[in-house]
Amino acid sequence: MKLILLGPPGAGKGTQAEILSKRLGIDTISTGVMLRAAIREGTELGRMAEGYINDGKLVPDDVVVGIVKERLSQEDCEKGFILDGFPRTTAQAEALTASGVEIDKVLSLEVSDETIIERLSGRRECSKCGTPYHVVFKPSPNGDKCPCGGELIQRADDNEETVKNRIEVYHNQTEPIKEYYQAQGKLVVAYGKEELADTTLEVAKALGLED
Ligand code: AP5
Repeated sequence: MKLILLGPPGAGKGTQAEILSKRLGIDTISTGVMLRAAIREGTELGRMAEGYINDGKLVPDDVVVGIVKERLSQEDCEKGFILDGFPRTTAQAEALTASGVEIDKVLSLEVSDETIIERLSGRRECSKCGTPYHVVFKPSPNGDKCPCGGELIQRADDNEETVKNRIEVYHNQTEPIKEYYQAQGKLVVAYGKEELADTTLEVAKALGLED
């Protein structure tokens, strides 16, 4: 399965990608995770991306397309992958098509803007492995630590003003991609319910993965 997860910030893409990744035995490629790792490591890419991310803006297309193409050229991607957070503009979607990668399905995870704010204000993330948690909806079994031992932290771009910018960017720049994949007959939709288990079920149904 070569799958794209689309959706607004906080829709639950990372959470569902983690579940699908285990279920399907394929890796998740998250541009957000890759960019934040580059920031932590202080690489040239990280220094360039940090300002865009902290302002809630998109990192330039050519940069992101470059890192995704490089990752997709690795051998493990031949058996399938889940793209989380890419493509995010029509130009990125077109670049992916032009690179010859055949996508099977594009899942759009839909949630309201109000739900996004609630989810992102309570989100915590493992500083070591990047696993997402929520103080109410998905607490870590180890309290304020991840089972891997990492500390749980709040992302720098989860403050109210940046979240508002990210939502606006999503509606203006990312949402039009749905039409691009709809026209190719690849778009399926799932609604992010309040209970995590219900969303997981919706996602499985949309992808035709029910038992
Ligand atoms: P990125 O890391 O991709 O962030 P995002 O798309 O804004 O999405 P999030 O990671 O915030 O949310 P999510 O949908 O994964 O939700 P999660 O599962 O965590 O990108 C960050 C930045 O990097 C961008 O703003 C941009 O600057 C840059 N960037 C990245 N890719 C780029 C690209 N292709 N081009 C240009 N720039 C790029 O869930 C959220 C919370 O809700 C969690 O706490 C979770 O536990 C909880 N939750 C999840 N599902 C449920 C549920 N069903 N019920 C209750 N709670 C739930």
